[in-house]
Amino acid sequence: MSDFVTIFEMGPRDGLQNEKLFVPTVRKIELVDRLTACGFRKIEVTSFVSPRWVPQMADAQEVMEGIYRHPAVSYGVLTPNVKGYTAARNASADEVAIFGSASEGFSRKNINCSVAESIERFKPLLDKASHDGVPVRGYVSCVVECPYDGPTPPEKVAEVARTLYDLGCYEISLGDTIGAATPETTAAMLDAVLDVLPAEKLAGHFHDTGGRALENIEVSLEKGLRTFDSAIGGLGGCPYAPGAKGNVATEAVVDLMTRKGLETGIKRDLLGEVAEFARSLRSVEA
Ligand code: HMG
Ligand code: MG
Repeated sequence: MSDFVTIFEMGPRDGLQNEKLFVPTVRKIELVDRLTACGFRKIEVTSFVSPRWVPQMADAQEVMEGIYRHPAVSYGVLTPNVKGYTAARNASADEVAIFGSASEGFSRKNINCSVAESIERFKPLLDKASHDGVPVRGYVSCVVECPYDGPTPPEKVAEVARTLYDLGCYEISLGDTIGAATPETTAAMLDAVLDVLPAEKLAGHFHDTGGRALENIEVSLEKGLRTFDSAIGGLGGCPYAPGAKGNVATEAVVDLMTRKGLETGIKRDLLGEVAEFARSLRSVEA
């Protein structure tokens, strides 16, 4: 098993998308540039979604135009449909991410369609990305619990994850969208997904509402996962998932990996002040 762990930094996107007051575009650009300097190799920069649904991400194009592009970094963006993909491509995103759900309630609230309809909507996007050679990451949200439907059956997570993988996603990020997972529910969910996909194709995406994200990451490490999503300063939330507080903080994840003797390639000494800067972008201190 590899002793290198990839951290996919979510701060500029999942971290900021829920902020009530608009964060100035120059501040978003500064955050991405400072994260680049920390040594991340994967940064989710913004979302090409409907600005009516997520006003905070309305400056996606300007942010993409303004950031410094380190050649070793993959700058990714969220794209819910072909319209978003086309805009992301015009902005030269290095990779894009589609986001589906293992629960019907969240799918409807977040992307305004059923799980099955979302898969149909993703297909033309995946075809275009494959033609263009753009890697596509797939999110599955609500992998243990949905704010609308309650507990999610692990088999449903496995089914959606496998479907997105079969359609061409290079990696499936498993989202505990509302931070309700425990080590036990995480293990049960992963066991089901690992029956259909190998650990190296999976990533863990834990929100920390219940304060157990680090334990859930430890369980995921034991199951062989080596990619984790996190947000600098623990920023975060999803406007369509009540109770989804911050993502697990990147600095805490890096420290966990260090304690476990795992490499991340991140310059830990720089994270503290970038986390402080990231938290200063919040409209209200959590
Ligand atoms: P809809 O209203 O059903 O879409 O929304 P529509 O196709 O009927 O279009 C309605 C309007 O939106 C039209 O504009 C479209 O042009 C426009 P109008 O003609 O009325 O002026 N539109 C767009 N504009 C810009 N970019 C686009 C786009 N698409 C349509 N890509 C839609 C459906 C998917 C667009 C909408 O529901 C949406 O944008 N949802 C995004 C929600 C979101 O971003 N949520 C947060 C991210 S997910 C998350 O945080 C979870 C995650 O972190 C993992 C985890 O934690 O589990 C990833
Ligand atoms: Mg999230």
